[in-house]
Amino acid sequence: MSGAETMSGTNGAEGGATVVGLRGVTKEYAGGVTALRGVDLTVAEGELLAIVGPSGSGKSTLLHIVGTLDRPTTGSVHIAGHDVAALSDRRLSALRAQHVGFVFQAFHLVPGVSARDNVAEGLLYSGLPRSVRRRRAAEALERVGLADRLDHRPHQLSGGQKQRVAIARAVVGEPALLLADEPTGALDSASGAAVMELLRDLNREGATIAVITHDTEIAAGLPREVRIRDGEVVADVRNVPAPVPPVETGAGL
Ligand SMILES: Nc1ncnc2c1ncn2[C@@H]1O[C@H](COP(=O)(O)OP(=O)(O)OP(=O)(O)O)[C@@H](O)[C@H]1O
Ligand SMILES: [Mg+2]
Repeated sequence: MSGAETMSGTNGAEGGATVVGLRGVTKEYAGGVTALRGVDLTVAEGELLAIVGPSGSGKSTLLHIVGTLDRPTTGSVHIAGHDVAALSDRRLSALRAQHVGFVFQAFHLVPGVSARDNVAEGLLYSGLPRSVRRRRAAEALERVGLADRLDHRPHQLSGGQKQRVAIARAVVGEPALLLADEPTGALDSASGAAVMELLRDLNREGATIAVITHDTEIAAGLPREVRIRDGEVVADVRNVPAPVPPVETGAGL
């Protein structure tokens, strides 16, 4: 991949460049489970969307395919204008390392390693020297409100803090596409709200973000909601932002 390449692919219906384009995607796992049955999904640059659906409906499978961690059984996947099927595993890893950040429900932090080095790990394949990786890691931790926890190891952090470290690791390489699988699933509601606020901030700064959530309130609060059931997209809804309450409640209202 040359440095001149951008995240932009073709233009989507929204006018923004298409970051994710799935056409007729199916996924069959060994053992005969069909996890996805013909999914079409287009995500434009700058979107913030929720993926919702019951347990076992195929959400994680979908996110793994979007993030190129897994390939579909049939159908096409375009990420940032690249046809995933046409890329070797090595080129695909490079595309992923450059453009995609993941946040997993179970954090996946390395135990016994400081928050800072956990985050720096997100730049391992960037080719940057270690000192730069560590400086960027500190900056990313600052961005998620953990400037005072650089040297804490995972067992010394709360669940919400661990999730923020995981988010810092996912965004330290400034990926154009951030994928989060139940990032609030293991958190209390206050920590969950803080994590969602952080994702909104990152979206405002330009990241395209897809978030899996079981929480219907969180989903309804995001600009777009893709509902999945039994491996199929059954609804794709644009949510109108909640109205800002009026400052004055004068007689005319
Ligand atoms: N590696 C695998 N091998 C075989 N079957 C799998 C594999 N991973 C997932 N499945 C099956 O595929 C279906 C979809 O799983 P997936 O993990 O995508 O669901 P999900 O919507 O993310 O569920 P949850 O909300 O519980 O996380 C399930 O029936 C699951 O059992
Ligand atoms: Mg899942």
